[in-house]
Amino acid sequence: MTDPAHDVDTLRERALTTLTTARARTSLLTSCVEDPDLTAQHSPLMSPLVWDLAHIGNQEEQWLLRTVAGREAIRPEIDGIYDAFEHPRAERPSLPLLPPTEARHYAAEVRGRVLDLLESTAFHGTRLTEAGFAFGMIAQHEQQHDETMLITHQLRKGPQALHAPDPEPAPLLTGPSEVLVPGGPFTMGTSTEPWALDNERPAHRREVPAFYIDTTPVTNAAYQAFIADGGYDDDRWWTPEGWAHIRQHSLHAPLFWRRDGKQWLRRRFGVTEVVPPDEPVLHVCWYEADAYARWAGRRLPTEAEWEKAARHDPAGDRSMRYPWGDADPEPEHANLGQRHLRPAPAGSYPEGESPLGVRQLIGDVWEWTASDFAPYPGFQAFPYKEYSEVFFGPEYKVLRGGSFAVDAVACRGTFRNWDYPIRRQIFSGFRTARSGDV
Ligand code: AVJ
Ligand code: FE
Repeated sequence: MTDPAHDVDTLRERALTTLTTARARTSLLTSCVEDPDLTAQHSPLMSPLVWDLAHIGNQEEQWLLRTVAGREAIRPEIDGIYDAFEHPRAERPSLPLLPPTEARHYAAEVRGRVLDLLESTAFHGTRLTEAGFAFGMIAQHEQQHDETMLITHQLRKGPQALHAPDPEPAPLLTGPSEVLVPGGPFTMGTSTEPWALDNERPAHRREVPAFYIDTTPVTNAAYQAFIADGGYDDDRWWTPEGWAHIRQHSLHAPLFWRRDGKQWLRRRFGVTEVVPPDEPVLHVCWYEADAYARWAGRRLPTEAEWEKAARHDPAGDRSMRYPWGDADPEPEHANLGQRHLRPAPAGSYPEGESPLGVRQLIGDVWEWTASDFAPYPGFQAFPYKEYSEVFFGPEYKVLRGGSFAVDAVACRGTFRNWDYPIRRQIFSGFRTARSGDV
């Protein structure tokens, strides 16, 4: 059985397209501000933008030119500077970073050689070259950093530097606010998706009892009701760690929100605006998501519940690549790829809904799940332990589904993201669930 979407020429073409798309985005994110904004650190949580730029080139050089093609290092002295594990983000501004012009030049030099290599590499032979995996991994890596750089832009003080059209208004939501996902086993993870990363593998069966899940992400209006009801002042809704955290840091609302008399304002990419009621809530940490859910008499979905809601086709008892089926995302399915600089209103993208009618699982906002980041049974680190393995454990919570800021190449029904439960500069929101009747 051959799947035409996984045919070698299609994958080679896809590698070229995705690398090129990623570079266009990287270039935009590193050319829309002046050089001092590239070398500055806009938040201790983030790298200077010029670090991301050269790190993107350095990873591409290490994996494609050196590991796959066996070439010599272009600039061996810079590897340490761009090793994410040698230097935490807060330290990066004090490193002898390549200045913007040199960083651009280096990344372009690597890319030129990679495009030559892409023509001549056989897409088989080793696990790294099989189906062009290493090229796909590098395109995903660059797009992940493009999302990271967009977060840096959001944290940056100063006038607007990025522009994009707003999403369409949502169609009127007439359906139910939650659906029942019947109990039973489903296939979680993948062994066949050619560019799936190590933590998404292997496919395995999971028993998931019946549960209800929201048909859309939780909106700003709903979240404002939680705030107005004194949600941040009532320890009943919070885990002990969450309560201690919001007290210590005096948190009363999502990041970037500010109260103005009776209404809430937010700052978004240099513009201050009224918080739009029907948009999925953004920039909440796991503790806030968890507390809201408890206040609402509900809970966060587990990671397995989220994936079952997103991939299980009850008609065929099989797991699909996306909620809408197996086709790659198109603009009518989901808000991805920074084509808008905000989530679309709740209820958008009816064509992207799951068979049970759950919307916006892919794109818009990363969705916090109840689950810790853990390996699947049979997990094998590939091609390096520092992508996933060193992060497995109870200190990280899993986020699913991708945001408006992530490209389709780095977003699938199986894709797993993770972060500390206190993080909220990321494009994070959530939806809620509750256990089904027995
Ligand atoms: C998967 C988003 C948690 O940004 O730390 C980028 C992605 N890994 N370079 C991160 C990543 C190596 C990673 N996350
Ligand atoms: Fe990286």
